[in-house]
Amino acid sequence: MPHFNSDAQSAAPGADPLSVLQRWFDEAQAKKDPLPDAMTLATSSKEGRPSARIVLFKGIRRGAIFFVTNYQSRKARELEENPRAALVFHFPTWERQVRVEGRVERATAAESEAYFQTRPRGSQLGAWASPQSQPIASRGELEARSQQVEERFEGAPVARPEFWGGYLVIPERVELWLGRTDRLHDRFVYERAKDDEPWRLERLAP
Ligand SMILES: Cc1cc2nc3c(=O)[nH]c(=O)nc-3n(C[C@H](O)[C@H](O)[C@H](O)COP(=O)(O)O)c2cc1C
Repeated sequence: MPHFNSDAQSAAPGADPLSVLQRWFDEAQAKKDPLPDAMTLATSSKEGRPSARIVLFKGIRRGAIFFVTNYQSRKARELEENPRAALVFHFPTWERQVRVEGRVERATAAESEAYFQTRPRGSQLGAWASPQSQPIASRGELEARSQQVEERFEGAPVARPEFWGGYLVIPERVELWLGRTDRLHDRFVYERAKDDEPWRLERLAP
């Protein structure tokens, strides 16, 4: 039986790597891949000390990858002092991986606001209740904060906290990886230094 990535043959799967990412993500969702929107985000401090965690992919906006978080979290502090990031997606059902590297900008307040309004009320309240990445004394403290927030917004819409919002990872390097038989996998790297340049494409050994 041919391997399901054998259709890739010798050609790269597309000229624009973000369109391929979107297509692979849609396919992974349709195939019920576990959490296709969970992507690993690596940041680093200004001394170059790296850290990584999973955040959720919230789509492609203005040619960049959008995610949301707390602007006072560790990742946000690192992004403020060193606005570069790497992302990794893994779609195991299809044996595919996408690696993205690029610079990072905050989304506009309007973009963060628009996204916040689409969130379930519980998540909106949670954004207020959690001082993300700060030490807290106990689970009880977190629950008390959650209770206070519920009382504060009772019967009213939940406003977006100023300390919560989106970031955009503007890709400068994207690698598309397709698992193939006998470890002879396909790796296609797309690079460009500026957003208006065409992508340069090369194949790497697996
Ligand atoms: C499946 C999954 C999805 C997550 N999604 C997000 C997210 O979209 N935004 C976020 O800030 N944290 C998300 N988290 C929590 C982060 O992994 C991390 O614990 C948190 O953001 C604090 O990271 P930091 O201290 O490095 O800033 C998610 C965790 C998991 C396991």
